[in-house]
Amino acid sequence: MCGIIGYSGEKEAVPILLNGLKNLEYRGYDSCGVSVLYENKLHTKKDLLKVREFGKTHSFDSVPGKKGIGHTRWATHGGAKKENAHPHLSGDGKISVVHNGIIENFLEQKRFLEGKGFVFQSETDSEVIPKMIEYQMQKGLDFTRAVKQSFGLLEGQYAVVALHEDGKMVALRKEAPLVVGVGEADGEYFVSSDVTGFLDHSKNAIFLEENDMVVIDDGFSIFNLDKNRFVDRPVTGLDWSAEEAKKGNFEHFYLKEVFEQARVLEDLSKKDMGTILEVAVEIAKAKKVYVVACGTASYGCMHGVYLFSKIAGVHVDFCVASEFHHFFKFLDSESMIFAVSQSGETADTLSAIRIAKSKGAKVVSVTNVVGSSLARESDKVILQGAGPEMAVNSTKAYTSQLAIFVLLAYAVDGRIDEGIEKLRDVPRQISYLTSENARGFVNGLAEKLKDQEHLFLIGRGLQYPTALEAAHKIKEVSYIHTEAFAAGELKHGANALITDGMPYIVFVSEETEKATMNNAMEVKSRGAFLIGVGPKNNDVFDFFIKVPEAGVFNPVVQIIPMQIVAYQLALLRGCDPDFPRNLAKSVTVR
Ligand code: M6R
Repeated sequence: MCGIIGYSGEKEAVPILLNGLKNLEYRGYDSCGVSVLYENKLHTKKDLLKVREFGKTHSFDSVPGKKGIGHTRWATHGGAKKENAHPHLSGDGKISVVHNGIIENFLEQKRFLEGKGFVFQSETDSEVIPKMIEYQMQKGLDFTRAVKQSFGLLEGQYAVVALHEDGKMVALRKEAPLVVGVGEADGEYFVSSDVTGFLDHSKNAIFLEENDMVVIDDGFSIFNLDKNRFVDRPVTGLDWSAEEAKKGNFEHFYLKEVFEQARVLEDLSKKDMGTILEVAVEIAKAKKVYVVACGTASYGCMHGVYLFSKIAGVHVDFCVASEFHHFFKFLDSESMIFAVSQSGETADTLSAIRIAKSKGAKVVSVTNVVGSSLARESDKVILQGAGPEMAVNSTKAYTSQLAIFVLLAYAVDGRIDEGIEKLRDVPRQISYLTSENARGFVNGLAEKLKDQEHLFLIGRGLQYPTALEAAHKIKEVSYIHTEAFAAGELKHGANALITDGMPYIVFVSEETEKATMNNAMEVKSRGAFLIGVGPKNNDVFDFFIKVPEAGVFNPVVQIIPMQIVAYQLALLRGCDPDFPRNLAKSVTVR
């Protein structure tokens, strides 16, 4: 949440910062701002605008400085207002700070600083940072020491970049992501929430560890506050290309990423299966396995529970990561926590693995982001290789997680080749489902649904988590109220909601057809408008989307038309499919 960027080098900073912020905007887009250092003065502008408009509205032509910091905000403390936008400044205007995270004891520290005469301009927790640094400097510390001292007093999670008008930049991370980009030119550095902030300029990254403090002035150093000494961190070459993180000819990242799914799964089927096989051995060995994740990744995990049971006859427990704190007592050194996260930075997921680790459990993860906190804190990592996912709504990362669960389940059962064989068919099916014809047909459904206030989705077996994810996708991009149910559960309560013409999407497969169709008919006989998704049409459906029967890959092929209908609904209802209201991609606060 919130994107932060810093640049120090020989190029003009503002275009680099704005470009970085544009790429980081999926992390938050309530407001944005930039501070640039020029002629020993900080020049700061911020506004309640998206980055593109900000760049058009505010000119930095007269301040061609070569050092600066920028921020794109997802509001936590303090509403989406101009005064709450970052960067925040010290009282004397000599220090500018951008922050991602939460300062938990900010009220106490704010009162303390107010008592010392500091005047606050915003409602944010973040503003205590520059003021506290200034206060520490007033007491005689130099800038770096003042930053260090301040973060001894400020509690919480943070990624911070602070810039002093004397030209020194200090960046610090604690439980929030921060990466350094090493530029091609000598002495050129970027500091960013994630690599997309500087991918256009550098493919060399230093992934910071907890409590690393980076100091950039005439030189570059990393000081670890826990170890209380300077440390060396390796430079990692990135295999994501800048082009992958761009929209290309697509109007939205969302649609581009829907299209990319065929390629992502094809790549996965050709990938070295070494890690998957190793993890499968660990799963088979573990006494208890907990799969945890948030949001869309959590529906991937629910599929995992069904798949392990169906394919390998192995039981794993599932828990949304944000609830895991209520279950950790069951863990011990013979347990495994299996965490799934596209970004690898979701705070609840990280918190779940940390608590499991403290009980001695093994940590295995699936993530799309090399060098993410999750990847670094896991004993073993399966990298998704889906390429940068820029839309806030997860599509290609989700289907690659589903495919990894299928492969893993087959691997646990000693039949990975069978899993790979089945996976090889899927890209062709996705290409068909994303073809112009298929999309045109699905768009017809969006036309029918566009004015609905409610939409229900049902399924059994693997189709139940599919219904949950389809509901999630549609609600987050189109703001229609959606709810998914296990089809067999309707008569235990939800049937009370049926009104004449109420739309129900029914997910069916060969395996679940008989029982699900009984439920569909019950709903239909009470007046519902039925939309079928599956391999075989039925008279009871008012609208039918044919998808090929794909067995354990049904969850992949059935979600594709739902991703498309969600996209089309967003367009028809005037919503932005890449930037849904109130959401951010990487949820780094709990
Ligand atoms: O990066 P993660 O996979 O951990 O993110 C988890 C959720 O925040 C994410 O899936 C969210 O639900 C998206 N909006 C899904 O489209």
